[in-house]
Amino acid sequence: EKGGYDYFMLKEIAEQPKAVADTLLGRIDASGALTLDEVRISAAELREVDKVVIVACGTAFHAGLIAKYAIEHWTRIPCEVELASEFRYRDPILDARSLVIAISQSGETMDTLMALRHAREQGSRVLAICNTNGSTIPRESDAVLYTHAGPEVAVASTKAFLTQLVACYLVALYLGQVRGTKWADEIRAVIRDLAEISGEVERVLETMEPVRALARGLADKNTVLFLGRHVGYPVALEGALKLKELAYMHAEGFAAGELKHGPIALIEDDLPVVVVVPSPRGRSVLHDKIVSNIQEIRARGARTIVIAEEGDEAVVPYADHLIRIPVTPTLLQPLVATVPLQVFACELATARGNEVDQPRNLAKSVTVE
Ligand code: F6R
Repeated sequence: EKGGYDYFMLKEIAEQPKAVADTLLGRIDASGALTLDEVRISAAELREVDKVVIVACGTAFHAGLIAKYAIEHWTRIPCEVELASEFRYRDPILDARSLVIAISQSGETMDTLMALRHAREQGSRVLAICNTNGSTIPRESDAVLYTHAGPEVAVASTKAFLTQLVACYLVALYLGQVRGTKWADEIRAVIRDLAEISGEVERVLETMEPVRALARGLADKNTVLFLGRHVGYPVALEGALKLKELAYMHAEGFAAGELKHGPIALIEDDLPVVVVVPSPRGRSVLHDKIVSNIQEIRARGARTIVIAEEGDEAVVPYADHLIRIPVTPTLLQPLVATVPLQVFACELATARGNEVDQPRNLAKSVTVE
């Protein structure tokens, strides 16, 4: 049932191109418009939304952090993202015009469930993004957009994460479409890019051997840091989470701009630091800033592991290890940039003799608060 792979996690990583494509399937009509009929919240209501609040835990929370960039960029509706376990206990400000999005692979995470119940009590509409048909979170929500990742067996989430991203992009574009904040042409262009992304994920998967070799070489390290900016920041958090749960290593993700406010003190000789580099096209200021961050940490002895777009030559002099990812639109980059980090964590876990599919102390669905 592992389809020839040693672990479910490897199988699920490999299934990501299909999972991404399946999550798009049937949601775009012949004219290129989105048809999210399953989102049973009326267009009139969606036009009234004045705030989006995303609640989730763990990896799903990281998908939410990325969704914020897309939602605010494409719809201009303010969007907050909060850990479900924190949300309910701080008396959040919600009303009938707030759209709450609960993201959960299993649909059974207790913290996320309690957060959505609280939101509904305040009169907010709740849209679930979920991978498990008929589970509790979609049943208790006003509407659900299913991710079509197929069953995810490995405890560490991989393909579900990529499909959560796709679902978030779809919701963001749909909100833009319904509210007329985005022109049909632009939505169509993003949809076209999304449709191609599955092939790009496939290409990333074909080039992972050097990443595996690199990971094996780091098996005796204690700490790995991850840096990113913009949507690369949540990707860095996700890379660190994967490494903690699978390799049982100390791993932390930082916003690269925060380095000088503290974390740079952690840099010491030969410390591996993974840097997710934004595209040099588009937001080139961000790109240039992160290149100087890489220079700074390398000058202090860090071993730099740089994830950068094909053709980005500016990073080459400062990369001890260079992992190439395909050219993608800035907001969609997490779909390709996360994949090497999953492979990296999985290989490090194996090299350290850990149980990949069933890491110690963890459960696939966390049904206690
Ligand atoms: C990490 C991981 C967890 C889950 C979290 C939420 O790899 O799998 O962090 O993402 O427990 O689970 P769901 O999405 O089922 O609500």
